[in-house]
Amino acid sequence: MKKYFYLFAAVLLSACAAKISAPTDVQLAEASKYYPGITISDLNDSKALYENSCGSCHPLKKPSSRTEEQWRTIMPKMVVKANKKGYGIDKMKEDKLLAYVLSARNTATPQ
Ligand code: HEC
Repeated sequence: MKKYFYLFAAVLLSACAAKISAPTDVQLAEASKYYPGITISDLNDSKALYENSCGSCHPLKKPSSRTEEQWRTIMPKMVVKANKKGYGIDKMKEDKLLAYVLSARNTATPQ
């Protein structure tokens, strides 16, 4: 019985941890339009950066909550804020982060 409890708790925990689903090949194809040559590993890095730095002052914003135009305006401002906190996001990381967010936005399943 106890065994099942731990199993249940683990499933519940992992469900909570996965706030945004892991990048897929579909998302990769979309991200390549914004950043040619981007890889799945880049997307995973950008996802981690997004979840850590962009959720550090306010709750994480859903990629689908803003239009592409809004993201293009907001991202540079927020990167400046994140860098003041020491996240060290250079131009290349910023461009990949934007490609990550826009591709996540465009491939998100409506909810
Ligand atoms: C140092 C704190 C801080 C960090 C780090 C930070 N933000 Fe923000 N963010 C704010 C504050 C304060 C506001 C509200 C005021 C404003 O819009 O400037 C905000 C607002 C926003 C908004 C809403 C703006 C609008 O006009 O709709 C979005 C979207 C956003 N942040 C995304 C991000 C992303 C993406 C990152 C990571 C690159 C990030 N934030 C990192 C402090 C932060």
